[in-house]
Amino acid sequence: MNLNQLLHRPRRLRHSNALRNLVQETRLHPHDFIYPIFIVEGQNLKQPIVSMPEQFRWSVDRLPEILDQVVQADIQAVLLFGIPEVKDAVGTQAYAETGIIQQAIRAIKKKSPNLLVVGDVCLCEYTDHGHCGVLENGDVVNDATLELLTKSAVSQVLAGADVVAPSAMMDGQVAAIRAGLDVQELKHIPIMGYSAKYASAFYGPFREAAESAPQQGNRAGYQMDPPNIREAIREIELDLNEGADMIMVKPALSYLDVIQQARQTFNAPLAAYNVSGEYSMIKAASQQGWIDEQRIVMETLTSIKRAGADILISYFALDVANWLRA
Ligand code: PBG
Repeated sequence: MNLNQLLHRPRRLRHSNALRNLVQETRLHPHDFIYPIFIVEGQNLKQPIVSMPEQFRWSVDRLPEILDQVVQADIQAVLLFGIPEVKDAVGTQAYAETGIIQQAIRAIKKKSPNLLVVGDVCLCEYTDHGHCGVLENGDVVNDATLELLTKSAVSQVLAGADVVAPSAMMDGQVAAIRAGLDVQELKHIPIMGYSAKYASAFYGPFREAAESAPQQGNRAGYQMDPPNIREAIREIELDLNEGADMIMVKPALSYLDVIQQARQTFNAPLAAYNVSGEYSMIKAASQQGWIDEQRIVMETLTSIKRAGADILISYFALDVANWLRA
């Protein structure tokens, strides 16, 4: 080949920042993000979560501090996790009108009415055994759990939640919650299904944060088995048939293939949850000085969006939004 006649030189488009920006295929934006917040009972609390550096458990009265950061970063949605003082076998505090999550929702909507509040609907933070539903002979009973998830979703919406996101991986949870909302004339409230949620070791730090590790056994009887992708597509299809408005793949990084296939198969808005273990691994390595945190985080979140996610749920949301504006 005569090199003087080399026609194709992809490097031409990498020559300057402006050119690279011009041909950039995937761009992160603060509006892509949902920022998860943990809320505890008590007063004047901003408890560091040891396994998730720079993340905290907030008492309701201290929430304004983090909400100001969220709004300032132009992040427009938060995902709430309540950690009650008292837990019991049936997760009563998940659907108590005075529960910690209901209190937090009311406080947030009062202070920041335009912030989109997404309520995580599950029982694991609220049960003394740490499972996502009601136990019978060591097994989580599906249909009895649906009733409690529905009560929890309805009570969160009555407190002011804009979206509910059932994460218990019970069969029929989207249909049950949809019906429960509709009879209360809450037909306009969207459901974001945690449709393909895997039984993942990447939730480890979250379970410390939310004090929600199962006391016995594990979640393999209801969350998905990591080797499966066809099953994920089936789960998402079921959620959409049950009325889910948005769907989710969780975790994100070890499941980019699932995200990509979900995007190619369905037209509903697709969220990906960049979970606690994915956060903590990056934090730990960057605290050691082994990696460049900002570059790693941007590359990671870009990969999740490039795979096909429209909505990114991430503990890095505030950092990314601030870097994007810097
Ligand atoms: C269930 C729930 C979990 C997460 C979100 N919702 C924990 C679990 O299933 O054990 C994990 C999120 C994370 O790891 O960041 N309420």
